[in-house]
Amino acid sequence: MTTSRIAGFYDLPMSQRLNRLAEASGLTPTDLAPFQTLGLDLLLADHMVENAVGTYNLPLGIGLNFVVNGREVLIPMTIEEPSVIAGASFMAKLVRAGGGFIATTTEPEMIGQIQVLDIEDLLIASMKLGEQKAELLAEAKTIDPVLEKLGGGARDLEIRIIEDSPIGPFLVLHLIYDVRDAMGANAINTACEKLAPHIERITGGRVHLRILSNLADRRLAKANCTVPLNKLAFTSKDGRSFTGEQVRDGIIEAWAFAAEDPYRAATHNKGIMNGVDAVVISTGNDWRAIEAGAHAYAARNGRYTSLSTWGMDEDGNLTGELEMPMAVGIIGGATKVHPTAKAAIKLMNVKTASELGEITVSVGLAQNLAALRALATEGIQRGHMSLHARQVAIAAGATGAQIDKVATQMVVEKKVRPDRAEQIMKSIQ
Ligand code: MEV
Repeated sequence: MTTSRIAGFYDLPMSQRLNRLAEASGLTPTDLAPFQTLGLDLLLADHMVENAVGTYNLPLGIGLNFVVNGREVLIPMTIEEPSVIAGASFMAKLVRAGGGFIATTTEPEMIGQIQVLDIEDLLIASMKLGEQKAELLAEAKTIDPVLEKLGGGARDLEIRIIEDSPIGPFLVLHLIYDVRDAMGANAINTACEKLAPHIERITGGRVHLRILSNLADRRLAKANCTVPLNKLAFTSKDGRSFTGEQVRDGIIEAWAFAAEDPYRAATHNKGIMNGVDAVVISTGNDWRAIEAGAHAYAARNGRYTSLSTWGMDEDGNLTGELEMPMAVGIIGGATKVHPTAKAAIKLMNVKTASELGEITVSVGLAQNLAALRALATEGIQRGHMSLHARQVAIAAGATGAQIDKVATQMVVEKKVRPDRAEQIMKSIQ
């Protein structure tokens, strides 16, 4: 049985970490080998994009301690930023003490948009489309028999009139399409293109754009968590003590800032996306689609706001919730081609896209908690500094044992800067 608690993982050399991970997940080191063989070879890369000349690597680490819907899960996180993986793992440990993350998803319904121009009477065209909805849906159901067989396919048609636009009013049709375990872009774009001639015939108009919407507000993932009050108290490295109440209230106050102020909400949500994107990238999913959906959803009521909500329960424990669009898949695209993505899906042992969405939104909530807890107490820089200092040391040319030496000295001096790294390098050479 998988355990997401691996004591001393951080202190192991990288070669041993992979073996420990295999043991903890019940997989073999060979299953996880793509994490260390750089996964994507040049031939594959050449098949994936045009004009390929190489590949680009990022660090992949493991988010530990996660329990999502009662299941232990090890999280592959691809990210270049220090502190994110440690922060998520630590918060997952606190949340675990409150029963872990409880996450849900809605049906995997995407929206395909069909823009119809040059219509003489928009109301009459809408009426005609309404009358022929059943026929249009029946037509849509013939488009992808495989998806249909898996229980997906066309679900509904919505007719919208855009009254005011730079080119005047026009009509938009939304095709609601259940894409099951796919991210769904190809399925929905194909369906929209196939329906277009029928829509032109019915409306007498001209179909212009036929493309999915990344505001996937019918395909949502939601995570909830509770952190017991007694788990929140701590003493910082510089000796300052924080009570559970202080940390809890500090987190709620920090969230209130994001709830009301778009300037803060953008940064708050960026912290959420640190966690979300790290999983999305690991699994070969389209992180730009997830980013676009998240931020559009955060502005859905006309003002950009926080994607998460923090409060407390009747016992004074901290409670958190994150809801956001989650158009991720486990079939098709890079998820089935990229060896690292395949190993990532295997590690999490997810069998459906919904399950992947539930894990991903939980990591987003953990990441948000990590950022707010740090910001509300000792500040973000202390945690960031030691790893950041290592990056500065490497950029200044440090290698091997020099990296820690240069980084430690800069942290002690509180001067984490390239010029200082270079001076220290010269002094130890
Ligand atoms: C840094 O990558 C993310 C944070 O700025 C998020 C936040 O401010 O909530 C720390």
